[in-house]
Amino acid sequence: MTTKESFTPDKDLPVLEKVEAYQSFIESEGIPIVTGFFVEDLNTLELAPWARVGGNGAYVNLDGNGGTNDAYVCEIPPGKSLNPERHMFEKLIYVLSGRGATALTQGKREQTFEWGPGSLFSIPVNAPHQHHNGSGAEPVRFVAVTSAPMVMSIFNSTRFVFENPFDFEERYTPEKHNTGDGSLWQSTTGRHVWETNFVPDVVSFKLFDLPRRGAGGSNVTFELGYNSLAAHISQFPVGTYKKAHWHGPGAHVFVLSGQGYSLLWPKDAKRTERTRVDWKPGSLVVPPKEWFHQHFNGGSSPARYLALRWGSHRFSSIAGITPDTEGADKSIEEGGSQIEYEIEDPAVLDEFEDECLKNNATPQMRSFFPARKSFTVKLPA
Ligand SMILES: [Fe+2]
Repeated sequence: MTTKESFTPDKDLPVLEKVEAYQSFIESEGIPIVTGFFVEDLNTLELAPWARVGGNGAYVNLDGNGGTNDAYVCEIPPGKSLNPERHMFEKLIYVLSGRGATALTQGKREQTFEWGPGSLFSIPVNAPHQHHNGSGAEPVRFVAVTSAPMVMSIFNSTRFVFENPFDFEERYTPEKHNTGDGSLWQSTTGRHVWETNFVPDVVSFKLFDLPRRGAGGSNVTFELGYNSLAAHISQFPVGTYKKAHWHGPGAHVFVLSGQGYSLLWPKDAKRTERTRVDWKPGSLVVPPKEWFHQHFNGGSSPARYLALRWGSHRFSSIAGITPDTEGADKSIEEGGSQIEYEIEDPAVLDEFEDECLKNNATPQMRSFFPARKSFTVKLPA
């Protein structure tokens, strides 16, 4: 029985309807809003003219963001620029196609940097900026992940969000970070972290070995623009798949190269409730909060993806949102949220090997299963 049915409304009182600030805002924008938890190809997603921003756009507001962050795809027509804007939310941008430049103002400094396919950069919170298409012949298409849903639902004022003069001096990015220079760190969890504000090409960026997520995997984490939103790239070899794990909401996983699939299921679900999505470059999947997800390279070339997500290593966690990176790397047997190969459902490996053979790829996973341990943690049947 719902709450509405459990009481008799007082006909003399007006009903206090809930204001959904973010949802109302995006509905007022006049562009498509894509929902669900998977988009097969952002490159071909249908867009519509976007009066506020300029160019064409579509919101990609997938279930897995849990109302904490969002994404949109935007196209800048040949020879055009988007409208200048600033906003009190953070924004990470990954360029799908086309070439152009962004002018970014921080205090008295105005800096313009150029980008192309595969570039990743951030617009630090409330920094005035404008994007330009550098070509008179080809459109630009990029995807942005932002913290707009959370910011808008806390402040309930589009004026505060879009017309705010506050200057975040303490968050100015070093000039050299906006052209691709940066610093290499190690996180407290032992990951390699490249801190910058501009990555020229995530498709070819050098990665570092990260064996604990499984099977020959490599990785790099990005800190961008002193943001709470962060990023990482993962790559895994032909014939392999990663270990399943779960964490908080809002990890937008963009496939950069390779062909494969992901399995997703709520952490307490039965085996039969697993959902499979088949991906390729241009696909986006956002695993819902506390859903196991597991990525499989079923094709004949390495698979690489870019995740734009919460979980900065520089800034403290946001309660209830930031993924517990340490827990996500630790076995469920030890209180973490990762399923080690030895204890996963055997059907996972069987399905994967069938998929490899279908695509003329040689499965490599048997070498990672010297002996299946007996289950020490009870997994749902
Ligand atoms: Fe994940």
